[in-house]
Amino acid sequence: MSRGENPPIVAVVLAAGKGTRMKSNRAKVLHTLCGAPMVNYAIEAIRSLNPERIVVVVGHQADEVRTILPPDTEPVLQEEQLGTGDAVRVALEGIEEEDGVLLVVNGDGPLISGRTLGELVERHRTADVGATVLVAEPPDPTGLGRVIEDAGVVRIVEEREATDEEREVRQVNLGLYAFGLPQVREALKHLGTNNSQGELYLTDAVEIIGRRSRAVTYRLKDLEEANLVNDRAQLARAEEILRRRILDAHMRAGVTVRDPVSTHIEASVEIGRDTVILPGTFLRGETKVGADCIIGPSTDLLDTVVGDGAQVEHSVGRGAGVGAGANVGPFTYLRPGTILGTDSKVGAYCEVKNTTVGEGSKVPHLSYVGDAEIGAGANLGAGTITANYDGAKKSRTRIGDGAFTGVNTSLIAPLTIGDGAYLGAGSVANKDIPAGKLAVGMPARVIRDSPGKDKRTPSQNETEV
Ligand code: UD1
Ligand code: CA
Repeated sequence: MSRGENPPIVAVVLAAGKGTRMKSNRAKVLHTLCGAPMVNYAIEAIRSLNPERIVVVVGHQADEVRTILPPDTEPVLQEEQLGTGDAVRVALEGIEEEDGVLLVVNGDGPLISGRTLGELVERHRTADVGATVLVAEPPDPTGLGRVIEDAGVVRIVEEREATDEEREVRQVNLGLYAFGLPQVREALKHLGTNNSQGELYLTDAVEIIGRRSRAVTYRLKDLEEANLVNDRAQLARAEEILRRRILDAHMRAGVTVRDPVSTHIEASVEIGRDTVILPGTFLRGETKVGADCIIGPSTDLLDTVVGDGAQVEHSVGRGAGVGAGANVGPFTYLRPGTILGTDSKVGAYCEVKNTTVGEGSKVPHLSYVGDAEIGAGANLGAGTITANYDGAKKSRTRIGDGAFTGVNTSLIAPLTIGDGAYLGAGSVANKDIPAGKLAVGMPARVIRDSPGKDKRTPSQNETEV
C-alpha cells in the first residue's frame, strides 16, 4: 500500500520504565540481546513500516537510553513514570500530526516482527476502528493483562485487578496497539488512576475508545513473538530465539555453522559465503568476516575485520584486521590497532597490539609484538619480543621487508631493523640495525653482512643456479 492512500503512521515506543523485575541497576530497555539493547529491536521492527516518525518515551536512566537510541528516533522525557497512559500522553505533546495511525509499542518485546506490526496497522485500517490491540494466547499468561472483547468494546484487565473469572481468560495484551490519533488524544483526557497501582493505564484508553467509536483485536500469528522480557530468565529465552534467528539467516546466506548450539553471532555481524564457523565461536560487535574463511573453534572476535580466505583458530581478536589468506592462531590475541597483511601468519601463542604486519610476513611462535610496523616477507623467530614500554612511554619498532629475527630476540624500542637485516638468536637490539646486516649478542653488534642478504629475492637466485 502506498503512503499516498493512507494517512501517516506515527510510532511511539514506551521505554521509560525501570523494569523492577529485572532486579537491575540498569533500565530494562538497556539490557542487551545478541549485542544490541532491547529497545532497538522494537525500533527496527517499526522502521520497516516506514513511519512518519518514531518517538521514544524515556525516563528511567534517560541519558543512558538516549545514547543508545538510533539517530532516526526522537526521545521525549517522561519525568515521572505515572503509567503507560501517561507515557503516551507525554509522547503526544510533541506530535503535531492530527490524523493518522498512532502505533504504540512497549519497549520490552524484542521479538516482535515488522510483519506483525504491519498486519496490526492493516487490520486497524480495514476495520476502520478507533483502536486495535495485538493479542495472543500464550501457554502461560501470568502477569499479562487479560483481554475481553465484546461488541466493539475491548476491555483489558491487569492481572492484579482481575477477578478469578477474568484471570481464566487466556487471551492477553502484548502491549502493542494501533490507535486513531484523534481518538487516542481524546481518550487520554479521561483516564483515571483508580487502580491498584495508582497509574494512568493506556489499556483504559482502549476501553474508552471502544465505547465511543469501536475497538478490535488482532491475533498474533507466531507465538514466538509474544516473548516479552520482564525478568532475566525471560531475557535469556528471548535472546536464545534471536540467536537462532541470526544463525539461521547466516546459514541460509551460505555460511556453514558446524555447531549452532555453541555459536554466538551478534546481530550486527557480517559473514561472507562459504565461510565455516567452528564450535565455540563468538563473533561480536562490528565484526566482518569475508568469504571462504575458517573461524574457530573457540574463537572470540569483537569489532574485527577478517579478509577472504583467512583462518583464525582458538584465538581472540579485539578491534583488529586480518588480511585475506592470513592465518591466526592457535591461541593468539590480536589487540586493537593490529592489521595483519595478506597471507601473513601470526601464532601460535602470540600477542599483537597496535601493529602492522606486512604481506606474507610471519610471527609464527610465542611472540609479543606491540607498536610495531613489520614490512613484507619478514620472519620473526620464536619468542621475539618488542620492548615497547620503558615504564613511562611507548615507542615504536620498525622491521623492514624481508628482515629475520632469531629465536628469543628482544627489540628495544624505539628501534629500526633495516630491510633484510638478520638478528642472531638471543640478541638484544637496542640500536638500529642497518639494512642487510647481521647483528648478534647483547646488545646486538653488527658483525658482517646478513646471511639473508642474498636470499631476499629467492626466486631470482634460484633461476641463477
Ligand atoms: C503492560 C500492560 C499489560 C500488558 C503488558 C505487556 C498497561 C496498564 N498494562 O503491563 O496489559 O499485558 O504491558 O507487556 O499498560 N512505561 C513507560 N512509562 C510508564 C510506565 C511504563 O514508558 O510510566 C513503559 C515501560 O518501560 C515498558 C512498557 O511501558 O516498556 C510497559 O510497562 P510495564 O510497566 O512493563 O507494563 P506492564 O505492567 O507489564
Ligand atoms: Ca507496570
